[in-house]
Amino acid sequence: MLDQIEDLKRRIEAETLDSEEAVEAYRIRYLGQRNGLVTLLARQMSQVPRAERPAVGQALNALKRLAEQRLEDARNRLRQHRQTRPVDLDLTLPGRRAFVGSVHPLTQTLEDITRFFERYGFSVETGPEIEDDWHNFTALNFPPDHPARDMQDTFFLEEPTQGKDGVVLRTHTSPVQIRVMESRRPPLRIIAPGRVYRNEAISFKSFCLFHQVEGLYVDEGVSMADLKQILHAFARALFGDDVQMRFRPSFFPFTEPSAEVDIWWPDANRPGGGRWMEILGCGMVDPNVLEACGIDAERYTGYAFGMGVERITMLRYDIDDIRIFYENDLRFLQQF
Ligand code: DAH
Repeated sequence: MLDQIEDLKRRIEAETLDSEEAVEAYRIRYLGQRNGLVTLLARQMSQVPRAERPAVGQALNALKRLAEQRLEDARNRLRQHRQTRPVDLDLTLPGRRAFVGSVHPLTQTLEDITRFFERYGFSVETGPEIEDDWHNFTALNFPPDHPARDMQDTFFLEEPTQGKDGVVLRTHTSPVQIRVMESRRPPLRIIAPGRVYRNEAISFKSFCLFHQVEGLYVDEGVSMADLKQILHAFARALFGDDVQMRFRPSFFPFTEPSAEVDIWWPDANRPGGGRWMEILGCGMVDPNVLEACGIDAERYTGYAFGMGVERITMLRYDIDDIRIFYENDLRFLQQF
């Protein structure tokens, strides 16, 4: 028995354990639970004569410790090797460019618009996208049979019935005017950016969803000259100092008088060298609207304006299809 132990010891010491596979084969060969050579030898202890048992037992234990120690050493060595071996890396390869996102062009324009009006003391207000008939239409002086109330233009969440007003996806940001005037007293100077919805056929120039910025200024003695002055400054801030701008008479139920603002868009290919492009609607707040909100129209006057963010962005960057804002095409977005 002692000879066998000595023999096994030499074999164990002679093993080269230089790979994961060799180490695993070694473990099974010597220390396997069922047929490991050391394990089998230990099982023969019962046949060793009593007198020899202490010596044999000691030798066996030493053998087992040796076998286990070699296993552990080999595993440690391999682990260390794994951690320090040179990495598979070609340092001459060109680097991979990190992907950097950009601010959406609509957001950029919105930020520019907001920054401009904040400089003039306007605060930013928001309102719900789901509106009732009162805020979206009635308080804004839309007559009951106005075509904008038609389902052709408006998304109804609840259709109006006898004696009950409808609930709509707001068709413009003007209802925020009403909410502000209902809850606060003049002087009021706010802009209201946000999403609006229209039930229109989708094409290069209209989408079912777009963005507007509403403006409202109510105080004693506010005049059309104030309106014209701030909108001129605004057009210059967004389109450059030599922008040409005109006020064109128009109509909105909630303003009187009303105007639309156009800017001159030079285009050498057109007769006349360019054309007028509308950028927003505006006017003096109709006294009916002030009164609907409980504001004394004898004492206060106000101006209001509303612009489409998509429209202004399309002009600034020469974009000819509104749908592209909503397609998330990286080839488009990466240009900004
Ligand atoms: N609400 C109008 C629209 O959706 C835009 C507008 C025009 C807003 C004139 C105004 C305004 O405040 O005075 O087309």
